[in-house]
Amino acid sequence: MTLHGKTALVTGGNRGIGLATVRALAGAGATVHFTARSAESLDLARQVLGPTATGHLADMTDAPALAALFQQPFDILVNNAAIIAPIGRILDISPQDWALNITTNLTAAFHATQLALRHMVAKGGGTIINISSGAAHRPQEGWSAYCAGKAGLAMLTRSVHMEYAAEGIRVFGFAPGVVDTDMQVAIRASGINPVSQIPRTALAPADHPARAIAWLCTAAADPLAGQELDIRAPDLRAAVGLPPLA
Ligand SMILES: NC(=O)c1ccc[n+]([C@@H]2O[C@H](COP(=O)([O-])OP(=O)(O)OC[C@H]3O[C@@H](n4cnc5c(N)ncnc54)[C@H](OP(=O)(O)O)[C@@H]3O)[C@@H](O)[C@H]2O)c1
Repeated sequence: MTLHGKTALVTGGNRGIGLATVRALAGAGATVHFTARSAESLDLARQVLGPTATGHLADMTDAPALAALFQQPFDILVNNAAIIAPIGRILDISPQDWALNITTNLTAAFHATQLALRHMVAKGGGTIINISSGAAHRPQEGWSAYCAGKAGLAMLTRSVHMEYAAEGIRVFGFAPGVVDTDMQVAIRASGINPVSQIPRTALAPADHPARAIAWLCTAAADPLAGQELDIRAPDLRAAVGLPPLA
């Protein structure tokens, strides 16, 4: 697998699946950039990653910061940054927290997509990977904002494909499975729905979805463009070289 000559941006690349994706893309030969939203997390990620990748301070909900970041073109955009909060039944959460989830998980991905697309279309090609979730297609108690935002993101994936596939843009929705990150720590602490009961030992390591994301950036994934993919699909796992699920 080689991504030599490609430049990638991973949003929320300072920890979790984003950090593993930065590593996987760099390992495949891409020049990788990532965002972090605080100086502290950016510093930490820089210490962990070393010279492997270039970090940028950018809160994905800050439109001017995004406009500055996307002055430069990227061949690959991974819309990874997301929040799970608010966790709670609809009568127990605030409209402000609900709106922040949609702004972070959906509207920011739209902004990044629009800014990246201008360069990609001018260049005649590019890859956008929207990190989806089973929650895009199945409601979970206490996750109304997260489910609605991810469902919207899945429709954004299909919209980009419909409008720009003919101009060489490959877009994928990719559900990473249940992965051992801080997001799952918050989910377990909530105790609110069946996902919160999944023991940590049953979670996948972040490098599994990261390897799949890197594979989606290659021409081997061309026939799958425009689709919502799930890491649990046996064919996809075999193509990526991931072990079959028990
Ligand atoms: N883990 C799972 O089981 C699972 C399952 C399905 C889907 N996903 C999806 O996979 C992706 C990565 O999740 P994860 O598990 O790695 O989550 P995570 O450990 O909570 O990491 C989330 C990342 O997003 C960043 N982020 C959040 N809001 C941001 C903002 N406004 N601006 C910039 N960065 C922001 C976080 O930055 P900070 O460090 O500053 O908070 C962090 O880097 C998400 O799209 C998530 O919905 C995860």
